[in-house]
Amino acid sequence: MKRQQFKLGPMDNLSYIIWDEASREAAVIDPAWEPAKLAEFMKKEGLQLQCVLLTHAHPDHVNGVDFFTGPTPELPVYLHEADQFMLPEKPRGLKAVADGEDLKAGTLAIGVMHTPGHTPGSVCYRYGGAVFTGDTLFIGECGRVDLPGSSAEDLYESFVKLAALPDGEAVCPGHSYNGDKSTFGVQKEYNLYLKLARTGRREDFLKAVG
Ligand SMILES: [Fe+2]
Repeated sequence: MKRQQFKLGPMDNLSYIIWDEASREAAVIDPAWEPAKLAEFMKKEGLQLQCVLLTHAHPDHVNGVDFFTGPTPELPVYLHEADQFMLPEKPRGLKAVADGEDLKAGTLAIGVMHTPGHTPGSVCYRYGGAVFTGDTLFIGECGRVDLPGSSAEDLYESFVKLAALPDGEAVCPGHSYNGDKSTFGVQKEYNLYLKLARTGRREDFLKAVG
């Protein structure tokens, strides 16, 4: 169970490739801006792309999807149903993910957590001891909730769920804002929003994100 992080584009987006070392089967998370770099890495490592996983549908996370679906239109593209209306074009292989699902992509098994707030269909993916948090949880920060479809109340509930994850799991965010990676143990100590959610301080959380 391996992962590689890529910082791409003008907004410090983080894309990821995850793969199984034995089967060489892989998934790409939030391909955007410079998808050729992701493809180049997969080629170098001899990886076979099984699917695209989208944490949410904002353009800076999905603008590289058609690079992969162009040559293989049936490639599965996973996105929560509540964000699918935001896609300018729906890929032929578009599939919905649901909370608690154990998604199978070849030999990969990927956990799905629905974590609305930044967008109604934001999800976090869990694979190999890491959680890919998109724009829900950043290092020391939380995602914006002042956008169309955002909800601070939903984000609080999502943070309550995230605060229950094991300390040893890695946080792999969707942007490199205050850093590129951390662990839930460290974030529960130092991320104000995770701390407030962990201790049930809903009103303080809503004030802090407001
Ligand atoms: Fe976003």
